[in-house]
Amino acid sequence: MGKKGGKKEKLEEKKTVQKESKNSKKQGAGSSFKCCGIILTVTAVVVAVAAYHVYTSVFHIPEMPEVDLDKWWGPNETKETQDTSVRPFRILFTDAMQEQLVKKFEYHRRLTKPKSFEDTAWTYGVHSQALAQFFAHWQFKYSYRERQKYLNQFPHYKTNVQGLDIHFVRVKPEVKNVKVVPIILLHGWPSSFREFYDVIPLLTTQRPRYDFVFEAIVPSLPGFGYSQAAVRPGLGPFQIAIIMRNLMHRLGFTQYYIQGGDFGHLIGSIMATLFPNEVLGFHSNMPMTLSKPAFYGTLLGAIWPTLVEPKYPEKLYPLKEKIEFLIEETGYSHLQATKPDTIGIVLNESPVGLAAYILDKFMLYTNVNNKYLPDGGITNHYNMTDLIDNVMVYWVTGSITSSMRIYKELLSGVEHTLEQIPTPVQTWFLNFKNEIFYSPEIFLRWKYPNLKGMTSHDFGGHFAALERPKDLADDVFLAVKTFIK
Ligand SMILES: *[C@@H]1O[C@H](CO)[C@@H](O)[C@H](O)[C@H]1NC(C)=O
Ligand SMILES: *[C@@H]1O[C@H](CO)[C@@H](O)[C@H](O)[C@H]1NC(C)=O
Repeated sequence: MGKKGGKKEKLEEKKTVQKESKNSKKQGAGSSFKCCGIILTVTAVVVAVAAYHVYTSVFHIPEMPEVDLDKWWGPNETKETQDTSVRPFRILFTDAMQEQLVKKFEYHRRLTKPKSFEDTAWTYGVHSQALAQFFAHWQFKYSYRERQKYLNQFPHYKTNVQGLDIHFVRVKPEVKNVKVVPIILLHGWPSSFREFYDVIPLLTTQRPRYDFVFEAIVPSLPGFGYSQAAVRPGLGPFQIAIIMRNLMHRLGFTQYYIQGGDFGHLIGSIMATLFPNEVLGFHSNMPMTLSKPAFYGTLLGAIWPTLVEPKYPEKLYPLKEKIEFLIEETGYSHLQATKPDTIGIVLNESPVGLAAYILDKFMLYTNVNNKYLPDGGITNHYNMTDLIDNVMVYWVTGSITSSMRIYKELLSGVEHTLEQIPTPVQTWFLNFKNEIFYSPEIFLRWKYPNLKGMTSHDFGGHFAALERPKDLADDVFLAVKTFIK
C-alpha cells in the first residue's frame, strides 16, 4: 500500500513539473497526465511481455538432436570391408622420420631468424630466444629411442569405429578382489593422449580407503595424433562424442565414467547428455557452460559481480578486461574456425613452427601472466621433454590440420543446442586457479543439476593432466567415490 501511495505522489510531482514547464498550456496538464498513465501502462505491459519472452527463450530446453550411431566418416568404399577387431599398435619413431627431422632442423638452424623485440617477453607471440632453447633441447637432449620406449610403456590399440581407425591406450589395473571401474580420459587441443601419461598409473593403482580402482581408456580424438581423420566435413564434438561412446561399446563397456578438459570437457559433457544411462559420472577440469542462462547471466553479472559469482568474481569480472583478453588471445581459434587447412599447410611443413604454435598455447593457458616472462614460464610448470612428446604426436602423424578442423565443425550449432539441455548425469568439477574458462556455479548447476561437488585449487592451469597429474587423479578418485555412494 505504502508503495502505491509513493507512486501516486511521484505522479503528482511529475504533474507539477509538467505544469510548471508548460505554464502557457495550463489546460492541457490534465489530459497529459491521463496520456502519461496510458503510456506507462502500455510500457509496463510491453516490458512484461518482452521479459517473459526473453525468460522463456533463455531457459527454453530444445529437443535432443537426432543421433545416428552408425554415421560413416571414412571413405565410402571401406564400408563393406570394415574390420571391427581391436588390434595392438605400437608407436614407431622410424629412422626415415628422424632423418627428415635432422634435415629440417639443419635448415632451421641456418635460417636468418627474426629476433623478438627487447623487453616484450611473449606479448608479441613466442619469444625467439625461448624458442631457441626449446629447439636446442629437441635437437640435443631429446632421445627418440628413449621416448619411443617411454610412449610404448602402456598397451596401445586401434579399432575401426564408423569408418575411422581410432587409436587408444588401455591400461587394466593389476588387482584382485577389487571393483574395477572403466574411465575414458579425453584430451583437447593442442593436446593429445600423451597428456595423461602421469595420470594413468595413478588411476590404475589401488589406494588405501578406496574400494575401487580404474581401468583407463585414453583415446586420440579422431583427426588427432594416431586416430584417423574424417574424409568429409561435419565431425565436430557432437559426432566425436558418438564415436567415443561406440569405442567404449566396442571394448565391452556399456557403463563408464568420463574425465575431460578443454574439448575433452565438451565431448564428455555431450556424451553425458546424449547417453545418461551409460555415463555413470562426469568429471571435468573445465568448469564452464555456454548455455544461454550462463551467457546472459554472466553479462548481467557485470552490474553486480559478487551476486552472480560470490567466490571467484575475478575469473569473470571486470567483464571489459575479460572480453579484451579474449579478443587479444583467441585469434588462433578464429583462424582455425575459418581456415584450418591454410594455417595447417604452414604448420605441417615445419617442426619448429609447429612447436612454436603449440607452445604458445601451453604458455598462456597454464598461466596468463606467463606471457610477461622472457622464457614464457614454461619450465616452471613442465618438463621440456614432455612438451616435445606432445609436439611429436602431431608432427609424426601430420595431424595438425585435421585436429584444427574441430574449431570449424563447432560452428554447426548442434553443440550449442546441447549446451541448452541439462545433463542429468552425476557431475564433478575441478577448478584450477589459472583455468581461464569458467562459469559461475549457479549456471553450472542449471546445466548440470546433478552436480555432486567442485574442488577448487589456488594453483594449476588449463592443461591439468600434464601439469598437475596427482591433483587431477586425487580428485577423480574423490569424485567417483561420491558417485558410487
Ligand atoms: C559417400 O556416402 C554418403 C552417404 O551415402 C554420400 O552423401 C556421399 O556423397 C558419398 N561420397 C562419395 C565420394 O561418394
Ligand atoms: C624430464 O623428463 C625426462 C624424461 O622422462 C627426464 O630424463 C628428465 O630428468 C626430466 N627433467 C626434469 C628437469 O625433470
